[in-house]
Amino acid sequence: MMGLKTPLLASLLGVLGVMLVAGVRDAGFLPGSPRNISRNDHDLQRIVLTAAYSYNNQSNDAFLFRPSAVRRAQRQVVKGIRYIVDLEISRTVCRKRDNNTNLSDCDFQPEGRLHQTFHCHFEVWLIPWQNKTKIQGLLCKP
Ligand SMILES: *[C@@H]1O[C@H](CO)[C@@H](O)[C@H](O)[C@H]1NC(C)=O
Ligand SMILES: *[C@@H]1O[C@H](CO)[C@@H](O)[C@H](O)[C@H]1NC(C)=O
Ligand SMILES: *[C@@H]1O[C@H](CO)[C@@H](O)[C@H](O)[C@H]1NC(C)=O
Ligand SMILES: *[C@@H]1O[C@H](CO)[C@@H](O)[C@H](O)[C@H]1NC(C)=O
Ligand SMILES: *[C@@H]1O[C@H](CO)[C@@H](O)[C@H](O)[C@H]1NC(C)=O
Repeated sequence: MMGLKTPLLASLLGVLGVMLVAGVRDAGFLPGSPRNISRNDHDLQRIVLTAAYSYNNQSNDAFLFRPSAVRRAQRQVVKGIRYIVDLEISRTVCRKRDNNTNLSDCDFQPEGRLHQTFHCHFEVWLIPWQNKTKIQGLLCKP
């Protein structure tokens, strides 16, 4: 029984393997496992800012938060590019109700009652040919 099945299975897997490799080659890059990336990565800078805007939009806080540290940043090439990020955001002195504030110009709250940092985890899919940045599962806690 095994003797009959195994060669068939092997050739099926072989065909499948060739199809997968061909598909990947068509996509223009090889998929990989998540790799650490530099905190200075240009796309990462944009991504953590987008995450902070997303947090601010969802929060009920009177003040805006902005990124204070990146604890982990990984990139994985799949269909598009996946970023896995552990981010710290801290409360700034900028009030939400003042419109059009440039987050980059907001100082952090000094040590004291309003000083607070949250630890966030999220993932992002960059789909270059669709020009889309999609933040997924943004979760922040003290
Ligand atoms: C803020 O959140 C609301 C509702 O969740 C959404 O409709 C709106 O587009 C968001 N604005 C920004 C700037 O992300
Ligand atoms: C990736 O970064 C994390 C957090 O900075 C670190 O703990 C880990 O050792 C790094 N892994 C590699 C393979 O460099
Ligand atoms: C901010 O925008 C809202 C609505 O667009 C407006 O009602 C409010 O007066 C603005 N606040 C400031 C400080 O400009
Ligand atoms: C916000 O400020 C930073 C530095 O102060 C500047 O580089 C950036 O262009 C400003 N962004 C906007 C939208 O004005
Ligand atoms: C992608 O986005 C950038 C800036 O957000 C814009 O300048 C460019 O025209 C967009 N490209 C496409 C194909 O939509």
